[in-house]
Amino acid sequence: MGKHIHAHSEDGVGVIQLNRPQVLNALNRDMVHEIVTQLESFDRNESIKVIVLKGSEKAFAAGADIEEMMDATPLTLELLNPFAEWDKISLIKKPILAAVNGFALGGGFELALHCDLIIAAEDAKFGFPEVKLGVLPGAGGTQFLTKAMGVRKALEWLWLGESMTARTAYENGVINRVVAKELVVEETMSLAHKLAKQPPISLRLIKEAVHAAQDLPLQDGKNLERKNFYLAFASEDQKEGMRAFSEKRPASFKGG
Ligand code: CAA
Repeated sequence: MGKHIHAHSEDGVGVIQLNRPQVLNALNRDMVHEIVTQLESFDRNESIKVIVLKGSEKAFAAGADIEEMMDATPLTLELLNPFAEWDKISLIKKPILAAVNGFALGGGFELALHCDLIIAAEDAKFGFPEVKLGVLPGAGGTQFLTKAMGVRKALEWLWLGESMTARTAYENGVINRVVAKELVVEETMSLAHKLAKQPPISLRLIKEAVHAAQDLPLQDGKNLERKNFYLAFASEDQKEGMRAFSEKRPASFKGG
């Protein structure tokens, strides 16, 4: 339990709730540290298979904390190196799902984009308003958005700083699902529980290979996939999965 987040687990799903609703979950440095520490703790916890990140009703997160950032200088930022903390999110091996209600702006959008799957409410709003503050995204927003929707569309959204609806984000391949706002958490949890029943070694090896596809030349990506394919044969779940097929019965994965 942190100062700015709540965490609990249910049936193999670790849930992190952002909890600074009075400032629409604006992400200050302490809060980012708490989120990352909790993600790492769930990642190491064998009983947790999948992680869900959710905000509050009005906001997933309305960005980095502008009050905290306002008086920064290039040197304070260089010395604090705040985005090194964010980089640790990319090292998490388990699936991370974001349940987005309300605003996911600036750093809040970036936090969602660090997650593997994004489920959002019909009235959720995604955007990078940094340009209106005279800056630009700093936690990977320009990179994530461009990889998701291509150069021209990303430039338009980033230059104008306007918010896109969940539907637009969905149509542009930025998020996975759009649901009624009262169903966002339910839908995300049901997807998380479904994933929690899948063989976890497969899930993590797939996650690594898919993310690598964003950066690696095709042959390097294929080589990595191949190594991961071989590695899967060290798991009990591979034996169970293939045996069950051959014995014409449903597989029962134990997670090993
Ligand atoms: N930082 C600090 N405080 C914030 C905040 C933020 N990013 N977003 C909202 N708040 C605070 C507001 O100051 C307000 O506090 P008070 O009640 O003390 O005045 C409270 O949250 C509620 O916000 P509003 O009254 O503004 O609520 P609204 O419904 O009228 O508007 C909003 C909602 C459109 C999201 C508006 O709050 C807003 O524009 N927020 C800032 C969005 C933004 O610019 N985000 C990008 C930040 S920069 C960044 O993230 C850099 C990066 O890449 C890492």
